[in-house]
Amino acid sequence: MPPESSLRTGQPGRTESADSPDDAVRRLRAAGCVFAEDEARLLTGAAASAAELDAMIERRIAGLPLEHILGWAEFCGLRVGVATGVFVPRRRTEFLVRQAELLLRGSHDGGSHDGGRGAAVVDLCCGSGAVGAALAARVAGIELHASDLDPNAVLCARRNLEPAGGRVHEGDLFEPLPDRLRGRIGILVANAPYVPTAAIGTMPPEARTHEPRMSLDGGPDGLDIQRRVVAGAPDWLAPGGHVLIETSRRQAGRTIGLMRQAGLAARLAGDPELDATVAIGTLAGSSTG
Ligand SMILES: C[S@@+](CC[C@H](N)C(=O)[O-])C[C@H]1O[C@@H](n2cnc3c(N)ncnc32)[C@H](O)[C@@H]1O
Repeated sequence: MPPESSLRTGQPGRTESADSPDDAVRRLRAAGCVFAEDEARLLTGAAASAAELDAMIERRIAGLPLEHILGWAEFCGLRVGVATGVFVPRRRTEFLVRQAELLLRGSHDGGSHDGGRGAAVVDLCCGSGAVGAALAARVAGIELHASDLDPNAVLCARRNLEPAGGRVHEGDLFEPLPDRLRGRIGILVANAPYVPTAAIGTMPPEARTHEPRMSLDGGPDGLDIQRRVVAGAPDWLAPGGHVLIETSRRQAGRTIGLMRQAGLAARLAGDPELDATVAIGTLAGSSTG
């Protein structure tokens, strides 16, 4: 989850208005934007007028994440709505989705699940709801719930998930989930904050200035929220159910250790190209899907 930045610096870039895509590229490049051509194309496509394009470029040069300006992020082939002040889903988190999808389909262990149909899936710390939205798009018939403590994230996730039949609950981790899900969750996914507090200052300004602190800060060792997710998981998982937590390569051993302490069988999955690591804990018992 520590974010990628495509803007090298928030250099002041006000020079002239951008009334053509070439001007847009030039201004973005001058401001240190690494993917100036791509961003100019997206912003030009989104702006209804030259004045609006100019304003968008100014916001980008000032350091706002591209996705907050566009109002959406590309994630797992979807356009997921992302409101200002809500965590921008990262490419590496697509790996978390893929791992959850594999388990939902029952293919990872060669199981004989019914393609995930009817499985209760919970996206904890859902932010925009990107992970849940991608799972709902990939696996038909899941019962999808999501939760987040931040009311802005909850509003955003509702817009993304309710059309797909998902329910979004506002509150601390498991606390707002309907009690009937206790012992019934087949797949629990969490990309919870995992940046150690002291490392937040080293993050790109796009993240540390424009994403809420509570979406990044994982406490002194980065594991405060993960610890609570793992401790709560056994009560909420169905027999054979899985909890999948995005972590970092450096923290992975400790995330796995937390799972084992909670009585879960645990393993790691990773994708070096995406710099993605996911810890997967499984509750004993036979899975019902
Ligand atoms: C790293 S962001 C991830 C968002 C989303 N899962 C994604 O991958 O795009 C972490 C999210 O956790 C939420 N959060 C932080 N502490 C929480 C808590 N105690 N209970 C519920 N959500 C929490 C934040 O508001 C933020 O939306």
